Amino acid sequence: MSLRILCQEIERGFYLLRVDDERVNYFEGIWSIPERVTYNAYLLVGDDGAVLFDGWKTVYADDLIEVIGGIMSPRDLTHVIVHHVEPDHSGSLPKVLEANGFRAEVVAHPIAKPMIGSFYKISPKFRLVRDGEEISAAGERIRLIHTPWLHWPETMMSYLVGHKILIPCDAFGGYSIPRTIFDDNDEVVREYLPSVRKYVATVIGFYRQHIIRNIEKLQGLQLDISIVAPAHGLVWRRNPQLIIDYYRSLAEGHPDGNKILVVSGSMYGLMGEAARIAVEEVERLGGRAASYWFNDLEQPPFSEIIGDAIDSRAIILAAPTYEAGVYPLIDNLVDLIVKKIPPKPVLILGSYGWAGAVARRLSEKLAAAGFKIVGAVEFKGSPSEEDARRIRDGVRKLLEQS
Ligand SMILES: Cc1cc2nc3c(=O)[nH]c(=O)nc-3n(C[C@H](O)[C@H](O)[C@H](O)COP(=O)(O)O)c2cc1C
Ligand SMILES: [Fe+2]
Ligand SMILES: [Fe+2]
Repeated sequence: MSLRILCQEIERGFYLLRVDDERVNYFEGIWSIPERVTYNAYLLVGDDGAVLFDGWKTVYADDLIEVIGGIMSPRDLTHVIVHHVEPDHSGSLPKVLEANGFRAEVVAHPIAKPMIGSFYKISPKFRLVRDGEEISAAGERIRLIHTPWLHWPETMMSYLVGHKILIPCDAFGGYSIPRTIFDDNDEVVREYLPSVRKYVATVIGFYRQHIIRNIEKLQGLQLDISIVAPAHGLVWRRNPQLIIDYYRSLAEGHPDGNKILVVSGSMYGLMGEAARIAVEEVERLGGRAASYWFNDLEQPPFSEIIGDAIDSRAIILAAPTYEAGVYPLIDNLVDLIVKKIPPKPVLILGSYGWAGAVARRLSEKLAAAGFKIVGAVEFKGSPSEEDARRIRDGVRKLLEQS
């Protein structure tokens, strides 16, 4: 498969260097992403130097050097800004510095220095910068803003004062390989946003309070932003505020209409039958069910479910009892939901053969994380007429209270 690389001068002297990673199946080795992802590095070339912002994953290091070489000699890089040490952006650093003869200063937050040392066993020339510090390079004033936990503690953003470009690294990024570079086309943006939602939920959902805090920090700085140039996905120049507002809305857990997430696990179909009753009731009452089924035929990816959870109005979890506990896949999923998703109202459905454990176990876990348990319906085996009525009542209450 040939590698797709997009190298484009998007402002005078400012280049996007984007590689489309069509090989990756599991982001962070965890999250199923059939839609794949891009890594966006940026290069600013001026009369008195050149600055590389971030980089690509380790496997694409040689390709990055080649692309830079098409614009300028990598030896002439004067600065490499490492906003974030996660190797999807810093993996290429050792080879880039080697190609540069280790002449460039590595600009990073003090927290990043020992991380770079321990990840890559290199000790380049560092220029450690703190929140709000400005450097002058490549004829531009570059202000570094510390945005902790977006996505790691060392993470910074750059603001190019002259160009009015914000380079926020992971923040304001998303999965998938957009057809275009920019947000110019409505259809491209519409197609892309579900991959942003999935990315936020899986990658930075745990740090959602920091999304809000850092967006407020940026607002407080009153930056005049004409372009948001993230490290994944689309570059925002037509409507940069859209992606900032969308991030905030996701971090706050605002529901997308009447979406109700329904996740059912079932070994032999008994709970599956009950979950179908719940889905029918959701739809009868005007909700939109986003439903996922674990059974002997399917195991939907956690990444998709978590992505749908973050902007759901409420959640229905249906699981049988398994070895005196919860059907393991739903149990594992709930562990992720309580970490990554803002609290939502929940209805629990539990089935058992001799001694039910689902309602108690899941309620405890969810309530401890601030989720409101609107109801828990437990029944033996398959749902009876009476159980079906209790399920419908539970759904009605859930919709009323969400
Ligand atoms: C592997 C396995 C383990 C189970 N463990 C328990 C258990 O510990 N306690 C219990 O009450 N029922 C247990 N059951 C019974 C199921 O919870 C019960 O039959 C339930 O209705 C199954 O629904 P399902 O077909 O949707 O999976 C177990 C069933 C299986 C197949
Ligand atoms: Fe990251
Ligand atoms: Fe990243």
